[in-house]
Amino acid sequence: MAKKITVGTLISGGGTNLQAIIDACRDNRIDANIVFTGSDTPGVKGLERAQKANIDTFVVDYAHIIEDCKKNGIKDTDLPKDFNLKEIQSKQKLVVSDASKEQVEFFLKSRAIAEKKLLDIILDYDMDLLVLAGFMRVLTPYFIDRINIEPGKHKIMNIHPALLPSFPGTDGYGDTFRYGCKIGGCTVHFVDYGEDTGPIIGQKAFEIEDKDTLDDIKKKGLEKEWELYPHCIQKFADRV
Ligand code: GRF
Repeated sequence: MAKKITVGTLISGGGTNLQAIIDACRDNRIDANIVFTGSDTPGVKGLERAQKANIDTFVVDYAHIIEDCKKNGIKDTDLPKDFNLKEIQSKQKLVVSDASKEQVEFFLKSRAIAEKKLLDIILDYDMDLLVLAGFMRVLTPYFIDRINIEPGKHKIMNIHPALLPSFPGTDGYGDTFRYGCKIGGCTVHFVDYGEDTGPIIGQKAFEIEDKDTLDDIKKKGLEKEWELYPHCIQKFADRV
C-alpha cells in the first residue's frame, strides 16, 4: 500500500463531508489520515464527529474575533507581526470592487488576526494537505501563503456545491436551483487568491427533475460530494 498522507481539516457545521472522509480513511479506501479538525464556530456537530473518531479538534471563533475588531477597532499591535497590508491587498481577489478602502482593510486585517490563530495551531502538525470540508470562511493570501510554501504546489482543497466556474459564492445549490438548471453538481478545487477560482481537481454532476425542490437538489448534491471528496484526496495522495 502507498504511504499515507496527513490531512488537516477545517469545518463550520454539520460535517457530513468530514464524516465521508473519516470513513474513507478508516476503511482504508484512501491513503490518508486526518490529523486535526478545526472549526470557525464552537459547538458544531462536525467537531463531535471528529472527536468520536479520536481526531484532535480546536475552534478559532471567527464571529467573536470579528465582533471584537468591530467593537474595539484594530490596532497595529493586534495584527500578526509578519502581516503586510500592501502585499496582501495586491494579491487578494476576494473583495468586490465597490467596497470602500476602509471596508477592504478591515476585512483583510480582521481575517488575518483569525488566520494567525489558525496557523499557530495548524503549523504544529505535520500536514501534507489541508481540506476545507464545509468551511464557510474565505482564506486570504496571508493564510494561503503560509500553507503553500512550496512554489507552484497547492496544498489547500475546497468543495463547492456547484459546477464551477458556474455559481461561485456561498449558495451554489440555491443559485443552481433558482437559475432553473437541469444539471447540478459539485466541484473539488484547490484554493487560490480568489473566491472558488482555483484549479479544478474533480467534479460530479446529477440530473435535476422539474419536480425537484431546493431540498432535493441539496440532498442529491451532498451524496455526490461524499463520493467526490475522498476520490480527490486520493488523487492528491497518488501524486505525492
Ligand atoms: C456542503 O454542501 C459544501 O459543498 C458546502 O457546505 C456544505 C457542507 O456540508 N461548502 P457538511 O458540513 O459537510 O455537511
